[in-house]
Amino acid sequence: MKRFLTYFLIIVITTIITSSCSDLQTNIPQKSTDLKIHNNGITAVDSPNFHGKLIRENNWSFDLCIQCHSSNYTGGITGSSCLTCHTNTDGPQACNTCHGNFNDPNLISPPRGINNDTLTTSKSVGAHINHLFGNNLAENVKCENCHNVPQTYNAEGHVDSELPAEINFKGLAISTIATNANYNFSIGSCSNTYCHGNFEFTKVNAKPENQYIYAEDNIVGLNKTVDWTKVDGTQAECGSCHDLPPRGHLGFEILPLSSCVVCHSSVVNKTGQIIDKTKHINGDVDLGL
Ligand code: HEC
Ligand code: HEC
Ligand code: HEC
Ligand code: HEC
Ligand code: HEC
Ligand code: HEC
Repeated sequence: MKRFLTYFLIIVITTIITSSCSDLQTNIPQKSTDLKIHNNGITAVDSPNFHGKLIRENNWSFDLCIQCHSSNYTGGITGSSCLTCHTNTDGPQACNTCHGNFNDPNLISPPRGINNDTLTTSKSVGAHINHLFGNNLAENVKCENCHNVPQTYNAEGHVDSELPAEINFKGLAISTIATNANYNFSIGSCSNTYCHGNFEFTKVNAKPENQYIYAEDNIVGLNKTVDWTKVDGTQAECGSCHDLPPRGHLGFEILPLSSCVVCHSSVVNKTGQIIDKTKHINGDVDLGL
C-alpha cells in the first residue's frame, strides 16, 4: 500500500511539475521518494509554510489544492481531509475562512481582516461591528449597503483584485439625494451618505396635512463626513447627522429633544431615545403610531 502510494504520488507530482500549475514549486519536494508532500509547518499558523499562506500567495486559488485533496476537500488521494478543521458548510470556501471569526460562520466581516487586523483603528476593521451588530439607532446595516457581496468565494469582483476591498454603496446609503455617496480610501472617510444626514425632504412632496412643519422649502440633514476608524460614539450622537429638529423644520434651534415625541411618537420617547429602530434611518418620514 505504501509503495502504491509512493508511485501514485510520483505520478501526481510529475504531472503537477510539468503542468502549468507550478506556483507551489517551493513546497513540492524534489525527491520523489519523499512521502511528505508539504514542508513542515503546513498546519502551523505561525509558520511561513502554513497552508493559508500558500493559498494567499496563489491569489486565493484552491485549484492546486483540489488536485490532490479533491474538489469536495474530503482528502481524495491524499486521505488528508480539509474538513477535519474547516467544519463549516462549504469547508475552506466558507465565508468566515479568510475574514471574520474563523470559529463562527455567522461572523464573516472584520474584525479579523484579510491580514488578521483586529483593531478598529485599522481601516480593514473600522466600524464594521457598530454597523452590523447592536446598532442602537437603526436596524443593523447589511453588507450589501456598502459592498457587492459574492455568492461564492470565486465570484467575479471578490478575490480577483488587490486590497483594499471594494466599496459600493447601495440601497439606503444612496437613497433620495444621496446618489453621490462616497468612500475616500486614502483617509478612510465616508461622505454624502443618506444615513449620515445627506437627506432632503421637500415641502412640495409632503402630504398636505404635513406641510405646515416646513419653515423652508426643504428639511435637510447635516450631511456629515464621518471617519470609518473612529468608533467612540461621537459620530452617532443625537444632533450629529441632523439638527434637533433639522434645518428647514418648524422650531429649528428652538424645539427641545423632549418635544419630538409629540409628533414622532412611533420613533422616539420623551427622553429622546429611539424606541423603534425599524423607523429611524429607514428612508421614510415617520410620525405617530
Ligand atoms: C489541521 C487543521 C487544518 C486543516 C487540515 C486545514 N486547515 Fe485551513 N486553516 C486552519 C486554520 C486554524 C486556519 C486559520 C488560521 C488563522 O487563524 O488565520 C486556516 C486557514 C485557511 C485558509 C485562510 C487563509 C488566510 O490567510 O486567511 C484557507 C484558504 C484554508 N485554510 C484552506 C484549507 C484547505 C484548502 C485545506 C485542505 C487542503 C485546509 N485548509 C486544511 C486549519 C486547517
Ligand atoms: C501533490 C499533491 C498535493 C497538493 C497539490 C497539495 N497537497 Fe496538501 N497534502 C498532500 C498530502 C499527501 C498530505 C498528507 C501528507 C503530508 O502532510 O504531506 C497533505 C497534507 C496537507 C495538510 C495537513 C492536513 C492534516 O490534517 O495534517 C494541509 C493543511 C494541506 N495538505 C493543505 C494543502 C493546501 C492548502 C494545498 C493547496 C495550496 C495543498 N495541500 C496541495 C498532498 C497535496
Ligand atoms: C457601513 C459600510 C460597511 C458595511 C455595512 C460593511 N462593510 Fe466591509 N468594509 C467597509 C469599509 C469602509 C472597508 C474598508 C475599506 C478600506 O480598506 O479602506 C471594508 C472592508 C471590508 C473587508 C476587507 C478587510 C481588509 O482586511 O481589508 C471585508 C472582507 C469586508 N469589509 C467584509 C464585509 C462583510 C462580510 C460585511 C457584512 C457582514 C461588511 N463588510 C459590511 C464598509 C462596510
Ligand atoms: C479564500 C479566501 C476567502 C473566502 C473563502 C471568502 N473571502 Fe471574501 N474576501 C477575501 C479577500 C482576499 C477579500 C479582499 C478582496 C479585495 O481586495 O477586493 C475579500 C473581500 C470580501 C468583501 C468586501 C468586498 C470585496 O469584494 O472587496 C466581502 C463583502 C466578502 N469578501 C464577502 C465574502 C463572502 C460572502 C464569502 C463567502 C461566500 C467570502 N467573502 C469568502 C477572501 C475570501
Ligand atoms: C447616524 C445618523 C443619525 C443619528 C446619529 C441620529 N439620526 Fe435621527 N435621523 C437620521 C436620518 C437619516 C433621518 C431621516 C428619516 C429616516 O430615514 O428615518 C432621521 C430622522 C429622525 C427623526 C424623524 C422621524 C423619522 O425617523 O422619520 C427623529 C425624530 C430623529 N431622527 C431623532 C433622532 C434622535 C432622538 C437621535 C439620537 C438618539 C437621532 N435622531 C440620531 C439620522 C440620524
Ligand atoms: C409639531 C409636530 C412635530 C414636532 C414637535 C417635531 N416634528 Fe419633525 N416633523 C413633523 C412632521 C409633520 C414632519 C413630516 C414632514 C413630511 O411629511 O415631509 C416632520 C419631519 C421631520 C424630519 C424629516 C422627515 C422625517 O420624518 O425624517 C425630521 C428629521 C424630523 N422631523 C425631526 C424632528 C426632531 C428631531 C424633532 C424634535 C427635536 C421633531 N422633528 C419635532 C412634525 C414634528
